[in-house]
Amino acid sequence: MTRRAAIILAAGQGTRMKSPLPKVLHPVGHRAMLDHAIDAAEALGCERIVVVVGNHSPEVRAHVVKRLGEAAIAVQDPPLGTGHAVRAAEGALADFDGQVVITYGDVPLLKAADIEPVFGPGAGVTVIGFEAREPGAYGRLVIEGEALTAITEAKEASAEVLAITACNSGVMAAPSGLLFRLLAEVTNENAKGEYYLTDVVELARRAGEPTRAVFASEDAVMGVNAQAELAQAEALFQKVQRETFLAAGVTMPAPETVHFSWDTEIGAGTTVDPFVVFGPGAKIAGGARIRSFSHIEGAAIASGAEVGPYARLRPGADLAEGVKIGNFVEVKNVRMEAGAKANHLSYLGDGSVGAGANIGAGTIFCNYDGFFKHRTTVGEGAFVGSNSALVAPVTIGAGAMVGSGSVITSDVAPGDLALGRGVQRAKTGWAARFMDTMRAKKAAKGK
Ligand code: UD1
Ligand code: MG
Repeated sequence: MTRRAAIILAAGQGTRMKSPLPKVLHPVGHRAMLDHAIDAAEALGCERIVVVVGNHSPEVRAHVVKRLGEAAIAVQDPPLGTGHAVRAAEGALADFDGQVVITYGDVPLLKAADIEPVFGPGAGVTVIGFEAREPGAYGRLVIEGEALTAITEAKEASAEVLAITACNSGVMAAPSGLLFRLLAEVTNENAKGEYYLTDVVELARRAGEPTRAVFASEDAVMGVNAQAELAQAEALFQKVQRETFLAAGVTMPAPETVHFSWDTEIGAGTTVDPFVVFGPGAKIAGGARIRSFSHIEGAAIASGAEVGPYARLRPGADLAEGVKIGNFVEVKNVRMEAGAKANHLSYLGDGSVGAGANIGAGTIFCNYDGFFKHRTTVGEGAFVGSNSALVAPVTIGAGAMVGSGSVITSDVAPGDLALGRGVQRAKTGWAARFMDTMRAKKAAKGK
């Protein structure tokens, strides 16, 4: 395979988003749009990835440096057009010889499989086109036979060319040497006074290099410029996720109400009931059940486990086979061993619960002292009575019991019963005497 590199353009201001967050850092499926673009480049086997950023968004630069390192940054400032943006990456690829593909930080749905055809046979310049429902301001692909003869920007196009519905997605590939040689010839003598990347096509033709278009779906190449388009991209992303999970054997009676992340994993034979939200990092094995209104993030759920309705699993929740987490139970950074249960109204944070242990309604792992977090360990087969506060660090031994309403501040040995609450007293007949007196008083007043 020829060596591959990617240049991802992300120097636009994104002003139409009207958001303090730079456009390309807005998420689709809980992942920054820019990361989707980088994912696609990596999946294509690009050994070098250069992201073209502007000086106006240090957050974008920091994001790229964190993921790919300083070498992946090229700065374009000021932005003078797409051709100018690609030239900004020339220095970063000075020692690279191979195919270069140009993609965009605001085109989040484009997958490696959609881009792959640009690396097809032959040299020259290849662009990804699409059939536009409304061609509007897109560049038009002028195609003659097999060849792409020009890309004409809408502002420069004749009525005849404007009638063309085959449009430019913006994605283009060419051998590195050819690409930068042609870009050096691009001028800004056009309607926008910009250096158009698209001019490379005609320049290649003139140099006798082959030029062609391959096609992708309009949905796959959609760009995001405003919040409404971000929401639309999210909807398309969710649709693909739903279809993927249904095809993989996940049962979902109301799939349109389930919200997935880019990295959600769900095994065949799991049922996901209506209105479940998966944040990032959810890994659900096959044969589990996630009931309605649960929110699951950074959590692992094994086969036979049942979660919800109305459960919240936060990062580090790790549920073994057959675990049950019921309504209004929050679990964070806790391993629950096989068959353990917490069925109602609890907070379990930072600890572990042994196999078959039962956590009663309203139990709280008091994990935070205002400064540090501490762990709670509940042993195998232990029984924690309702409304208990387990003040960490603390261990409840295997097979031990905690009486309801206890505040447990020291360890409980295996097999013991711990009671940490006021002792119950009985006053024989007191209530009956009290009520008689009060009834008599009330009757006297009423007269
Ligand atoms: C471009 C194409 C057009 C295509 C359309 C698809 C050119 C000349 N035209 O038009 O044929 O149909 O995209 O959406 O290429 N960018 C920079 N630096 C710049 C200018 C742009 O990084 O100086 C980035 C932007 O952030 C954006 C992308 O490049 O992500 C496209 O730029 P934009 O100005 O939207 O190009 P269009 O005029 O839409
Ligand atoms: Mg645009």
